[in-house]
Amino acid sequence: MPKTKIIKIKGSFDKEDMEGLEYSAEVLRTGGLVAFPTETVYGLGANALDSNAVSNIFKAKGRPQDNPLIVHLEDAQRIEEYAHADENIYFSRIKDLFPAPLTVVLEKRSTIPDVVSAGLPTAGFRVPQNAIARKLIELSGVPVAAPSGNLSGRPSPTKAEHIIEDMYGRADVIIDGGDCSVGVESTIVSLASNPPVLLRPGGVSYENLCDILGEVSISSAVLSEMKAGEVAAAPGMKYRHYAPKAPVTLVIGDNKSARAYINEKSINKCVAVLCFDEDLDYIKADYVLCIGKHDDADEQGRRIFDALRKTDSCDGITEVYARCTDDRKGVGFAVFNRLLKASGFTVVEL
Ligand code: TXA
Ligand code: MG
Repeated sequence: MPKTKIIKIKGSFDKEDMEGLEYSAEVLRTGGLVAFPTETVYGLGANALDSNAVSNIFKAKGRPQDNPLIVHLEDAQRIEEYAHADENIYFSRIKDLFPAPLTVVLEKRSTIPDVVSAGLPTAGFRVPQNAIARKLIELSGVPVAAPSGNLSGRPSPTKAEHIIEDMYGRADVIIDGGDCSVGVESTIVSLASNPPVLLRPGGVSYENLCDILGEVSISSAVLSEMKAGEVAAAPGMKYRHYAPKAPVTLVIGDNKSARAYINEKSINKCVAVLCFDEDLDYIKADYVLCIGKHDDADEQGRRIFDALRKTDSCDGITEVYARCTDDRKGVGFAVFNRLLKASGFTVVEL
């Protein structure tokens, strides 16, 4: 078990920040694991060119070996070194969007080890916006393979306390860079097919993707459960994900019916409820966790994983009910997708 060093980075990049970042970059270069903040969620990084270091990510997270990692770079120009990007017409249209909460899947070059792509001929690439992440990648001088920094299956870490909870004793360094501003993971779009395919909704909206790329199809795994024997376009989508300990049910419906349904389910039972700020005075459950206003999907994005994690410390609960809109606009689509996965697609439509 590595002895974990926690390094707080303020983001002012003064002498103290730079010392912490130089140290972390050196740990990456020499084969260690560094947990770091991005604008989406905290990631657990290793030098993508060092197969041994990358294997340690899978061990630290308890992640299945067939689930590929995203390669993080400080500049979109560098994607060409690791993927057949220049020949890809969709990439030429979208590359100026970087840095962004976006991951593009492209046919990979042999410079990316197979352990990163889990043996697939493609790999995911992303240039994050977060200044600490960018500085760390730049100083390390290597591409950084990083999944979300949660233990496999848990909600992704969006606060320093989350990443410390999951990765203390597993990573060599944890960079505490405060809260993540987007709060849900990057949008993943495969540019290796025609038309491109949305594999995961996230910080960049589906509308924005379509504006830039034209037609973009939506992978069936985004909105529905995979059938037995079906091959996942993004291997990660076949696993139960973001799940708190207690089973989750999504409740979709207008205020009146959703509140009445949840209150009825809370009679004589200890449950936790994830709901909108407007619901607070109306929900009668033992634990009520608000995730933002009904119409503020950005705020819901920032709070959703923290709320899911908090249900694990609600003593005695047997179930979680989550209010949700089936909105596909903006970050709302990502919130809906994550709640679908957290619930294992257990949805009540009223
Ligand atoms: O926002 C994010 O993307 C965060 C931060 C740390 O950058 N990272 C993240 O990584 O969410 P992870 O590993 O938790 O999710 C990556 C997803 C997985 O579902 C994986 O299956 C998919 O990306 N993926 C990676 N490479 C792929 C590929 N070549 N083809 C299809 N899906 C891929
Ligand atoms: Mg993840």
